[in-house]
This record gives sequence, structure tokens and C-alpha cells, in this order.
Amino acid sequence: MIITELTVAKGILDQGKLLAIPTETVYGLAANAFDGSAIAQIYAVKNRPQFNPLILHSNSLERFQSWGIHLPKEALKLAQTYSPGPITFVVPKSNRIPDIVTAGHSTVAIRIPNHELTLALLQMLNYPLAAPSANLSGTVSPTTAQHVAQQLGHLIEGVLEGGPCQIGLESTIVSFVNEKPQLLRLGGLSVEAIESVLGLNLNLNAIINNENPQAPGMLSKHYAPAIKLRIGKPQDFSNAYSFAEMAYIAFNEPHPQIPLSQQFILSPKGNLVEAAQKLFAALKQADQLPVKIIVAALFPNEHLGRAINDRLSRAARN
Ligand code: TXA
Ligand code: MG
Repeated sequence: MIITELTVAKGILDQGKLLAIPTETVYGLAANAFDGSAIAQIYAVKNRPQFNPLILHSNSLERFQSWGIHLPKEALKLAQTYSPGPITFVVPKSNRIPDIVTAGHSTVAIRIPNHELTLALLQMLNYPLAAPSANLSGTVSPTTAQHVAQQLGHLIEGVLEGGPCQIGLESTIVSFVNEKPQLLRLGGLSVEAIESVLGLNLNLNAIINNENPQAPGMLSKHYAPAIKLRIGKPQDFSNAYSFAEMAYIAFNEPHPQIPLSQQFILSPKGNLVEAAQKLFAALKQADQLPVKIIVAALFPNEHLGRAINDRLSRAARN
């Protein structure tokens, strides 16, 4: 079930079976992107809506080019700076890519993950891997092999062990199919980092959400824990709940009245990168506690704090 040998991993994928793979962002549920029935299994196992397209993963831009996928100039600039890394490019699709991967869209999302083991695996394959996050649709993305095994272990062939994810948030998605690059999802590469290479300001209004349903994947219930999660200060909820009934997720300062075992202070030294890395594990652990509400304080709205706040606000719609 937990796999450590790349040859075993390759064997599973070559047979059209599903393998969870580590990346720097979150674990992905991978299959041969050229094998339509393997891709159909991904949708089935995740219980993912058929209209929500998948991201293609490979180890170099040249490989993508050999499959007919080309990056426009601006995207190339970003890729040269940040790939491999937590950024996904939406570009025109090629005929080589089955429609089931892109859910019928004329565009395809591609990325080069920055994880040594997975890069070595991708290098060994003569096809790209289609991989959504390795969780049931609507639940929090996994950042360890154990998270994946707990939720999907009985439904898939294996999980390639690659340690805890270093970034901990899904990739940032930028679309290059219109004249101006469009940010579709906040994620592990900050808006500031992207803007500094592009030399322009991204429009944050195009970010995918329920109010923007043309875009497929980021519907609100996406990161929902089972226990009610709300954004704010613990005091805001103390009329309805005692402090003992609360779990608390915050950046660097614990709350004086909530039991410490129910608090997730993601970076006591105030580092947003560290906080991002720990966010999803904290959401999962909080969800296991005997509490009635998870209160999350908003993070500074800059750099990775923006993506953290995005995931928390989505989780708060449960
Ligand atoms: O970090 C990540 O991106 C992880 C790792 C495994 O690579 N993958 C991931 O995949 O987060 P997933 O399926 O959970 O999210 C992919 C998002 C979805 O919101 C989907 O709608 C969007 O990418 N997407 C995929 N193809 C697209 C396209 N052609 N146009 C617009 N959005 C697209
Ligand atoms: Mg996902």
C-alpha cells in the first residue's frame, strides 16, 4: 500500500491503475493521462464532478511540448523562474490530451511539481500524469502519505511515500488563454512573486468561486471539515459556545482561554511559509477533536497569507 520503490510505482501506473504521489504542494491522485479509463477511475474514486478538469504533471516543458502543449511568452517567463514549483499554467489543449482530462474544455492545466522523487518518476514515464489532489471531493487536501492512506487506501493501488509536503497548499493557477494572464486560484506561489516576474498587477477578481461559476473547480465546499468552521475571534462566538467547546486555528498567538490541546498556532515565530505548510494537517486534526466549532483567525492578507485566508473562507462555508 505505502510504496517506496520507483519501479513499483511505475509498474502500477503503466498498468492503468491509480497511485497517489507526493508533490511539494499536496499529494496527488495520479494516473496515465493518455489512458481514458484510468482517468475515469480518478473521477469515480474521488467522487469528483465530471465537469471539473484535472492538472497534467510532467518533469519538463520539453516533454509537454512533445505532446503538443506550448506555453505563450508570458507563461514561459514564469516557468523559467518558478518551475519546477507550485504554479499551474492553463494553456490551449492539444489533441493528444483526452477530453476526459480537461472535462471537455479547450484548455489544459499543466504543472511541473518540485519534488525530487516524483520528478524522477515522471522522468521514467512516457506519458504525463493527470492528478487532482488525493482526497475525496469536498474534503481537505492531504499533505502526508498517511492522510491519503487513511481516506483512500482501500480504493487505490498505492501511495508513494514522499514525506510531508513542503508547501502544504495547492499550486497557484494562472490562465494564459486570454490576452492578459488571469489568476484562477491562489496557492503556494504568492501573487507578489508572480507579479514581480510579469511586471503587471494580476486581477484578483477572476479567482474561481461560486460567484464565478464559469470556472470549474473551486466551488465553496471544497475545503470543508465536518465540524462547523467560522472565521473571527473566539470572543465573537462566546455567546453560543464555551471556550472549552472551541478549537482555534491562528497564525502566531494562542488564545488565553481555549485549552491549549485544542489550539493550532501555525507559526509562533510568525512565518507564513511555515503556517501554510501546517494548515491542512491542523484542519484535519481540529476536525477530530470533541469540539462544537472551529474558530479560525484571519492571517495577514499578503504573500501566502492570502492563499491561507482563501482556504479558510472556503472551509467556513460548511
Ligand atoms: O498543487 C496542486 O495543484 C495539486 C497537486 C496534486 O498538483 N493538484 C490539485 O488538483 O490541486 P485539483 O484537481 O484538486 O485542483 C485543480 C484545479 C481545479 O480547481 C480545476 O478546476 C482547475 O484546477 N483546472 C484544471 N484544469 C483547468 C482548466 N483547463 N481551466 C481552468 N481550471 C482548471
Ligand atoms: Mg483538490
